[in-house]
Amino acid sequence: ALCARANKLGREDVIQIKGEVNERESKNKNLPTGEIEIIVSELTVLNASATPPFTIEDNTDGGDDIRMKYRYLDLRRACVRKNLELRHQMTMEVRRYLDSKGFLEIETPMLIGSTPEGARDFVVPSRMNPGQFYALPQSPQTLKQLLMVAGMDRYFQIVKCFRDEDLRADRQPEFTQIDCEMSFVEQEDVIALFEGMAKHLFRTIRGIELTEPFPRMPWSEAMRLYGSDKPGTRFGMEFVELMDVLKGTGEFSVFNDASYIGGICAPGCASYTRKQLDQLTDFVKRSQIGAKGLVYARVQEDGSVKSSVDKFYTQEVLLRLKETMKAVPGDLILIMSGEDVMKTRKQLCELRLEMGTRLGLRDKNKFVCLWVVDFPMFEWSDEEGRLMAMHHPFTHPKDEDIPLLDSDTGAVRANAYDMVINGVEVGGGSIRIHDSKLQDKMFQLLGFTEEKAQERFGFLMNAFKYGAPPHGGLAYGLDRWVSLFAGLDSIRDCIAFPKNNSGRDVMLDAPGQLDDSQLEELCLKVDIKE
Ligand code: AMO
Repeated sequence: ALCARANKLGREDVIQIKGEVNERESKNKNLPTGEIEIIVSELTVLNASATPPFTIEDNTDGGDDIRMKYRYLDLRRACVRKNLELRHQMTMEVRRYLDSKGFLEIETPMLIGSTPEGARDFVVPSRMNPGQFYALPQSPQTLKQLLMVAGMDRYFQIVKCFRDEDLRADRQPEFTQIDCEMSFVEQEDVIALFEGMAKHLFRTIRGIELTEPFPRMPWSEAMRLYGSDKPGTRFGMEFVELMDVLKGTGEFSVFNDASYIGGICAPGCASYTRKQLDQLTDFVKRSQIGAKGLVYARVQEDGSVKSSVDKFYTQEVLLRLKETMKAVPGDLILIMSGEDVMKTRKQLCELRLEMGTRLGLRDKNKFVCLWVVDFPMFEWSDEEGRLMAMHHPFTHPKDEDIPLLDSDTGAVRANAYDMVINGVEVGGGSIRIHDSKLQDKMFQLLGFTEEKAQERFGFLMNAFKYGAPPHGGLAYGLDRWVSLFAGLDSIRDCIAFPKNNSGRDVMLDAPGQLDDSQLEELCLKVDIKE
């Protein structure tokens, strides 16, 4: 009878058995229970399971949507569960490390005013203050600075942050920061402490001993060589600027009109077929990249160069191209140009990464860490029609660049730094302004009137009047760290209940509408324009 009942058990039933535990004769090391067997004397079904909507195994037949809808079943799969286990281990090691360095874990509120980190705010209406809204923190930036004014000296928090921005594989609308701040420090102190934490995580989690200091790359170099402020440096294929070689040296009007011409050299790809080259051209023309076209040149076995622009250039010019690119026979030179230098570099960056993928150079088990430093203080925003802070408005300019605030804002560099691993920005921070006059000036340059600055950030500037210590800090993106260590393609996979690409939680069916009575209580009216 027991056998008959056991045969009827469904895959996800929850059962209780009593019996004798024996060592198994033929052990199966691949099963967690593979070394024992139980001779069952009693069997109780505690809860029978309905047939799950997909197979709960690593190799599942469930598509993305169905797995997200039944995320609690998806989480039963060992391959998903292990990402959450890794996340747990990492937060434990983070706490261990920061505690050993004298940091205090302090919580800051979630219902606050707006914090400018460059995204839109998620807002929460206040019933008790009709017509008024809290904003959820894009980061605890201003609060952690106030904690420094309060004399906390070393703060950290593993904290949820909320940003209403377009989603990508490495972005979620709510994500987790390892947020830190320290008093009486300079850039070198912050970098040393958090490089130490990175090394601690590599050692304890991945068993990798990183002994060398992480290299530093000025932002301008990162843009020049990789077209990105988060360069992936597991492979070379750096940009070579070709304005001298190709502008005005032939009849090709596209290059002759360009403000930037740059190339990369793909080793061994001279044998690419017409079809493969067309695919690359289609790739750069895709709407997300938006390039107009791609020029290529093959370095032949005899050293001569055959290009898609042969009719516009002499072989002499093409040989100079080969030399400038340091290309050898078998190499494929890929060239892009445009009128907007930054935009064209970004497009070439996408092509470089695509070639890295095609050539298998983006090995998930190889880690290359670096600091990107010397960011510009400001960037121009066409959308806003004003200067914006590239990091945030509380970032301290480099001391030697402060005189330029009055003469050449574009040249002012910030005491800001990002940590980049394998082309992923895993964290960033800066030394802050702690002087209310300099902070005033910054707001002025960012186009805030005195009243507006006072209204939004008066609390901070006021606090700086009461003996604010010099301070600085950094925030790591926990989700990005975990995904990197787990080799995941999206940070979604290391979050228990993530949002989809439209910012929806399909399991909870959120966001949703409010009842009329709720709206009324909050004095809100919904007015959706067609
Ligand atoms: P920043 O905006 O650079 O700096 O954010 C710090 C780190 O948080 C991670 N991150 C994200 N991860 C997932 N989804 C997102 N939408 C997302 N946005 C950011 C990144 C990033 O490097 N207050 C400053 C820190 C400071 O100056 O101390 C800040 O928030 O890994």
